[in-house]
Amino acid sequence: MRLGIISALQEEQLGLVEAMRGPSRLIHGMREYRTGKLWEIDAVCVLSRIGKVAAAMTATTLVEKFGVTHILFTGVAGAGDTSVQVGDIVVAEALVQHDMDASPLFPRFEVPLTGLTHFQPDHGLSLRLSRAAHDFLERDFLEVIEENERQAFRLAQPRVHRGLVASGDQFVNDGKHIDGLNQALPGLVAVEMEGAAVAQVCHELGVPCAVLRTISDNANEHAAIDFMRFVKSVAAQYAFHITRRICRD
Ligand code: ADE
Repeated sequence: MRLGIISALQEEQLGLVEAMRGPSRLIHGMREYRTGKLWEIDAVCVLSRIGKVAAAMTATTLVEKFGVTHILFTGVAGAGDTSVQVGDIVVAEALVQHDMDASPLFPRFEVPLTGLTHFQPDHGLSLRLSRAAHDFLERDFLEVIEENERQAFRLAQPRVHRGLVASGDQFVNDGKHIDGLNQALPGLVAVEMEGAAVAQVCHELGVPCAVLRTISDNANEHAAIDFMRFVKSVAAQYAFHITRRICRD
């Protein structure tokens, strides 16, 4: 296995690069790829930057230039349903591009000429991810997330959700918008800006992928402030400890 690990922002990948043994750096396409050993695993870490094109470019490069055999995306997301709270963890069961709409030529959400609205991540890798997420919440959470942070974000008993993740080139910060997406996309648990692009690339190149998201905000009018605070303080801890558990599995 050679695992490509993508995050959109530096804060979402802090710690992983430091934990890497024998890292070497290579700049390609205006991104820095770090290759080395993460615990037992041969890995390549990279920041994609934000949005579907940036993520698709990064995923393609990981496969074509760095020869990764699996891709994991870790980062934060807005809640896609009222049952999902800030601090919860989402593992994608399917991914859709919520801003794809070539109707009336093709049904809403269908990626033209693929016949697909939803892209499926790898079942085995996603299962490992949700086990690692459960173990993180049960064993590491109280130790690594400080009490003042738990209080600040009201992180009482975070949960792991499996479900539909929707990606688009929009930061969703409007209650009506997220309600509309929730109604149009049954099973929606999170909205973000990269996962479905990575899933499409991986589908087309035949590479297994999985997407892990920690909920940073409710995709409503408070989303921007909540997102900034969450990313600055606790997002990296979630991503680091869950990825560590996967690599040591
Ligand atoms: N990533 C984190 N929060 C988000 C939101 N509200 N919309 C899109 N991407 C996000």
